[in-house]
Amino acid sequence: MSCALARACANVALAKYWGKRDDKLNLPYTGSLSVTLAGLTTTARVAPAARQAVDSVLMNGAAAPHQEAQRISTFLDLVRQRASRRMPLAVEIDTSFPVAAGIASSASTFAALAVATAAACDLALSPTELSIVARLGSGSAARSIHGGYVEWLPGEISDGSDSFATPIASADHWPLGVVVAITHEGKKDVGSREGMARAVKQSPFFSAWLASHEDDLDDIRRGILARDIEAVGLAAEHNCLKMHAVALAAKPPLFYWKPATLAVIERVRQLRDEGLSCYFTIDAGPQVKVICPIDQRDEVAAALGRVPGVHRTLLSEPGPDAELLEVK
Ligand code: DP6
Repeated sequence: MSCALARACANVALAKYWGKRDDKLNLPYTGSLSVTLAGLTTTARVAPAARQAVDSVLMNGAAAPHQEAQRISTFLDLVRQRASRRMPLAVEIDTSFPVAAGIASSASTFAALAVATAAACDLALSPTELSIVARLGSGSAARSIHGGYVEWLPGEISDGSDSFATPIASADHWPLGVVVAITHEGKKDVGSREGMARAVKQSPFFSAWLASHEDDLDDIRRGILARDIEAVGLAAEHNCLKMHAVALAAKPPLFYWKPATLAVIERVRQLRDEGLSCYFTIDAGPQVKVICPIDQRDEVAAALGRVPGVHRTLLSEPGPDAELLEVK
């Protein structure tokens, strides 16, 4: 076995993954499409730990909370089984962006872990195989294996062997600007895992979500290939608002927005009236991610930073593939 270090970026879905047909294998009902986010990274170091009885997990220098450590250990088991290894592992995870700010870090974490754990177990996996492995840790992590613009194909086979992400365009195909407006720090009430499960079982709008999702995927895919910000932005906003409508209509309801979330949405729409080409999307939390042409990014960030209730903004753009940095 080896000691391996890997890095992966977070991603933001423009057509979202919201609902699983298999909860254990993280198999989605629909496809999804995302942009990998440069600069919002997680590094994972995985080393054999023969003297330890069990795995150890450090996150940003501190012992991981029990539930997180459990989830990571379960993930390590999957890779170990595949490599016919049983050695306990020492894992160190460092995330460059504020995890407590509620930007999903599970995508970058499990993508980096997939790459590092496979290398630590001396498994040579293709990007497709790594995407499948990352998916088992967190669905959205399947997409963070690749840089640029990435589509996760939902697949049909019950073992998940055809459910993986694939790049549709490289990061330099289209230098999109991304601004993340942080409206609330702290952990969200209901994570996406539980939120999705509730939406599938308890939202009368879930069937409408499924029936209309393919159109959004087509519009966004076509828009990305044509570098058409208006087509991509309007379809992404529509898809995001439908996801939140599904969530709001669940029993009990899922409220992910804070007042400042809506204030940012309003400001984005005003900025459009004033001539900027910016469009919002929101995941299972209160932060707002805004896409725009890269040369408008600073102006958009400055305007959103002044919205009452916005704590700060983070800037990004399409980022690179997950990468193995070191093996020894
Ligand atoms: C709203 O990938 O975090 O961000 O598979 O249960 O780990 P699990 O869920 P996760 O869900 C992400 C949901 C989303 C939309 C998206 O990223 O596509």
